[in-house]
Amino acid sequence: MTRYILIASGKGGTGKTSCSINLAAAFTYFNKDVILVDANIYNPNLSINLGIINPIKNMQEVLLGKYHILEAIHNHSSRMRIVPLSISSSYITKMDLSNFKRVLYGIDGLADFVFIDGTSGNNIDTIHLINAVNEIIIITNPDTASLTDAMKTIRLANYYKKPVRGIILNKTTPNDFYTSQDVENLMKTEVLGSIELNHLIPMANHYKDSILNLYPLDRSSLGFKKIASDLLNEYFEFKVENKGFFSRFVKLK
Ligand SMILES: Nc1ncnc2c1ncn2[C@@H]1O[C@H](COP(=O)(O)OP(=O)(O)OP(=O)(O)O)[C@@H](O)[C@H]1O
Ligand SMILES: [Mg+2]
Repeated sequence: MTRYILIASGKGGTGKTSCSINLAAAFTYFNKDVILVDANIYNPNLSINLGIINPIKNMQEVLLGKYHILEAIHNHSSRMRIVPLSISSSYITKMDLSNFKRVLYGIDGLADFVFIDGTSGNNIDTIHLINAVNEIIIITNPDTASLTDAMKTIRLANYYKKPVRGIILNKTTPNDFYTSQDVENLMKTEVLGSIELNHLIPMANHYKDSILNLYPLDRSSLGFKKIASDLLNEYFEFKVENKGFFSRFVKLK
């Protein structure tokens, strides 16, 4: 049975796309079949971050009824499959997500998990996405604005009775005002793990792959694997062999 997971945040730029890619890579590491669907119709980044340049068969065309979603599945070298959006601005005024749920279920049974890289904002598009999935993972940063917007997304999920599986606290630093425990208390939601501010994450985007594939022993890669292992009830030991400079700055929960 396919499980549909929305990666949401409220605020823009918190790391939804980066975490979608790396979490999908971590699930793939645990031998799960994953399809990543780009649903950020206003600022789609998934395709450029995975090297799919201007796909003709894309999610906009699927939403507009020109193709079936099966025709828009692209393979990535990392074994993940992607349904990309085109980056063309010509689609913006033609798009909405009112039929997202209906077209999405065209891939039912084709993967163990479908991750949906969501839009930012707590608006009607996010509501359509919430209503299309089984559960939600929130990506937020340890600052007041991100947490406030994430809280609103959690409230929307509660209102539509969709379970929030947990929070990934992304871009953490040693000087954060909010600890993982603070975030759990404030949001009344489990923090699945923390991923530090790490220049290798934009670097992996630049090289069109996940940090897990490019830097498998990096602490963030291990962090994503640990989060995936907990979500999948798989055994994984977070162990850094070579304690480098950055390792002192990173905490996992
Ligand atoms: N842990 C991290 N450390 C450093 N940079 C990061 C981290 N996570 C994401 N980034 C960078 O932050 C920027 C925004 O990330 P990303 O595009 O994943 O966010 P988003 O929530 O999908 O944004 P949008 O709301 O525009 O869709 C990117 O340049 C990305 O490489
Ligand atoms: Mg994004």
